[in-house]
This record gives sequence, C-alpha cells and structure tokens, in this order.
Amino acid sequence: MKKALLLMASPRAGWSDGAAETLAEILAEKGVQVRTAAVREEEIGYCRGCGACMGRGEKACPMSGDGAQRLLSEMLWADGVVILTPNYALQVPALLKNLLDRLSFVFHRPRFFGRVFMPIIAQGIYGGRGVHKYLNDTMEFWGFRPVKGAVLQGALYPNEKLSAEAAGKNREKLGAAAGRFVDALNSERPKKPSFFRLMIFRTTSISRTRWSRTAPILRSAAGSTPRITIPSRSGPTSGFSARSRMPTSGGKRRRTRAGFSKRQII
Ligand SMILES: Cc1cc2nc3c(=O)[nH]c(=O)nc-3n(C[C@H](O)[C@H](O)[C@H](O)COP(=O)(O)O)c2cc1C
Repeated sequence: MKKALLLMASPRAGWSDGAAETLAEILAEKGVQVRTAAVREEEIGYCRGCGACMGRGEKACPMSGDGAQRLLSEMLWADGVVILTPNYALQVPALLKNLLDRLSFVFHRPRFFGRVFMPIIAQGIYGGRGVHKYLNDTMEFWGFRPVKGAVLQGALYPNEKLSAEAAGKNREKLGAAAGRFVDALNSERPKKPSFFRLMIFRTTSISRTRWSRTAPILRSAAGSTPRITIPSRSGPTSGFSARSRMPTSGGKRRRTRAGFSKRQII
C-alpha cells in the first residue's frame, strides 16, 4: 500500500485545508494510506543563516529537534507528499517558506529519490501558477519526482460560498490531480533525469563538500551569535557580505587547511 502525506501550509483552516480533506478521501478510495500534517501546528524557529546544517549536519542546527525536523520525518515516512497551500502575495505563506528555509540542507543532501511530489494551491485571483512552479522546482532539488497538481479557486474568507461552477471546477481539478499523483506513485520506472538535473545534482553535492570542509561555525565569545566564514578561491575582492550580498572590501583573511582563502564576514 502506497503512503501519502498531505502537508497543509495555510495559517488557518480554510480552502486549502478543505482541499486536503477532499483529496484525502479520493486517495483513500484509490487505496492510498494517507496522513495529514499542518505546518501551523508545529513550533518552527526561523532559520538564522548560521550554516551549521550545511557544514556540520542538520543535528548541529541550533534549533534541531523542533517542528521542522518532525515534519521532515513525516515526509520521509511517505512515498508521496502533497503540499496544499494558499497563494500569499504571489508566493507561499511565510510559515511554509520558513519550513523550506529550515530544511535547505536537503538541497545539498537530497533524500527523496523515487518519491513523488505534488502541489495544490488555493488562491483568490492570480499568481498560483508561479507558486506551483516554485514548489515543484524546489522539491525536484530534494530528489522528488514532481507531478502537475492544481491551482484552485479559493476566496478571502474561509466561509465564503463559491459559485457552483467554480466549486465544480475545483472538484474536477482535484480529481484529475489525484489521478496523476496515484499514477506516479504506482509507476515502476521513474523518469530519466535530464542532463541539466544531473549537472545541478553534481553542483549541489560539490557545494555541500565545500561547506563541510571550509565553513566551520565560529561561535562568538559570548556563545550566542553564530559566526560563519565563506570560502573564496580568488582573494579578498571576491568576498560577499552575507547581510547585504554586496561585495566586501575589507575583512580578515585566513588560510584554511583545505587551502582556501577565507574571509570572516559576520
Ligand atoms: C496575506 C494574503 C495574501 C494573498 N495574496 C494573494 C495573491 O497574491 N494572489 C491571489 O490570487 N490571492 C491571494 N490571497 C488570497 C488567498 O490566496 C485565498 O484567500 C486563499 O483561498 C487562501 O487559502 P486558505 O483559505 O487555505 O488559507 C491572499 C490572501 C492573504 C490573506
């Protein structure tokens, strides 16, 4: 029996949660074991950008053990994950973005090969396609096989009534998306990765090695402010300030064991 996790990303129980309920019923009818989780029910701290998860492994994250790790475990339980999210300002809500930031180490240590991902977006008027693309691109980096989901008509207030036509269209789209998701779950042969995907995989793996060799976390004397160093192969002028993303002009340079020239930036 295939397993699916439906991850709800709205800060409220609204239209996308409603879609999760319907989708859960459809998937159960198709013989899929379904679990649901809501990002809003977890305590998840903001990513501080210290780089510990990239350089020393996710257990070194100062917030390791909070809800982000629990949701990652839930995702790893499933053969397929569906994220159901509203469109907020042409993007995902901050709750979900923060979860994706916190799990960014998965870009460098992808672990979802052979699994399926599908996005479902609820929106008022415009921008859902961009959100759909963003989520599928992100999850492909994580190793998932992305499937075309759906952009559904929602409304500003959860108890608003949709026209019969809009509600019917939503049901139709959700049914078709569920069909594609189950087909992908049951397909024996995953799609061959493109040359571009192989190249990206190689690049992210190399950057992971560089992180772990050359970006140790330097804690300040007080122990609270994490300090990071960014490796630079070509000397002082190629450093970038992590805060502004502008090239830096000064700063302390050090020589590492790996032979990179490093600049302390924070
Ligand atoms: C802060 C905020 C930003 C929003 N931005 C957009 C938007 O950019 N495009 C859009 O079509 N709808 C937008 N909406 C409308 C929501 O996408 C819509 O109400 C959706 O049904 C909410 O889903 P939910 O009920 O699952 O939370 C926005 C709503 C809120 C509260």
